[in-house]
Amino acid sequence: MSTTRVFRMAAAAVACTAIAGGLLASPACAAPGQEVTYGSTRQDTLRGEAPRDLLIGTAVAGGGHHETMDYDNPFYASPEYRTVLAGEFSSVTPENQLKWEFVHPAQGEYNFGPTDDIVAFARANKQEVRGHTLLWHSQNPQWLEQGEFTADELRAILKDHIQTVVGRYRGQIYQWDVANEIFDGRGNLRTTENIWIRELGPGIIADAFRWAHEADPEAKLFFNDYGVEGINAKSTAYYSLAQDLLADGVPVHGFSAQAHWDMRWGLPGDMTANLQRFDDLGLETAITELDVRMTLPEDGRPTDEQLAQQATYYTETLQACLDVAGCKSFTLWGFNDQYSWVPVFFSGSGAATVMFEDFETKPAYDALVQQLEAATPGTSPRR
Ligand code: G3I
Repeated sequence: MSTTRVFRMAAAAVACTAIAGGLLASPACAAPGQEVTYGSTRQDTLRGEAPRDLLIGTAVAGGGHHETMDYDNPFYASPEYRTVLAGEFSSVTPENQLKWEFVHPAQGEYNFGPTDDIVAFARANKQEVRGHTLLWHSQNPQWLEQGEFTADELRAILKDHIQTVVGRYRGQIYQWDVANEIFDGRGNLRTTENIWIRELGPGIIADAFRWAHEADPEAKLFFNDYGVEGINAKSTAYYSLAQDLLADGVPVHGFSAQAHWDMRWGLPGDMTANLQRFDDLGLETAITELDVRMTLPEDGRPTDEQLAQQATYYTETLQACLDVAGCKSFTLWGFNDQYSWVPVFFSGSGAATVMFEDFETKPAYDALVQQLEAATPGTSPRR
């Protein structure tokens, strides 16, 4: 059974500071004499209650909006953050650390340190790592977007990037978002915004998958996008493209929906049907960036009604994944409101994650734990 909990671990600060200082092989943040209950024997956690074949993930804070906020990167600086990260999740996704502008800041120069730290943390805590992302229109470095490259040069740059980054983490990253957000809301390829498609044509998408597969034949290679949770023009564009690529023998293995919800709008009623049609194509599916934002009252604290409603958005999204046999990873885009991207992008909105800033769990957290507990092997159609 799960209960609402507050993770107050001030006493753990000394030991965890040591971990942040470089001893990443330690399991979680344990104070001397304090038992670590996470990740091994304790059951009432998200990862502890999940069916054996379902990974429960989170984004790991770093880069992007975190660089302009008034806090130190919690992955290094917050013992509580690290404890919950280790204890609650069986999969981690670098939130920005593998995006081009971060990992490839100058031509021919790579910045692998932050992802190396996450990979080491994951290994120490028996977690998998999702890779995000290789071919995208956003968060590209200026040297790339503003460079004057020929088509042949750009192609070589992309191939080298994919093979270098995927190759470095060969065997350590289980799923890659190879192509991210390549269609607009009407289901048209982003031929203007996306430098790769604009300069090299749509065929570059298949090449990106091929190059990633060469670099790590074991990794599952995904299309990833927002607004594709239900059946609509955008998700259907992915469906058609996936059919074509599979027919051509391109190594595409998965389709994932980000699931950034806003409670001003309802959920699509056909999430399961949508994921199922990709499953029927033989693709894995995943939920990769789930959060549920809301318009906050003046005091900034969500009401009980809002929190209860938020819980249903989380559980309905999880249910769609549980209902589809090949949906094997379910990832939240962060777990603590303090570090969420939402208030930075949407003024007046927030409270999108499953924990308050002090790590107090919300009804959404409890509802997920209970739902996972009820979905133990044997009671769901999972394969
Ligand atoms: O590039 C500008 C820079 O020129 C400017 O000086 C600086 C000052 O604010 O901002 C820089 O932009 C930041 C950007 O990351 C690039 O680093 C934004 O402020 C910052 O808000 C942004 O945040 C990230 C965002 O992706 C960018 O799209 C978030 O941390 C990250 O959570 C978010 O994650 C995306 C997924 O990758 C894809 N799906 C949607 C999801 C939410 O947007």
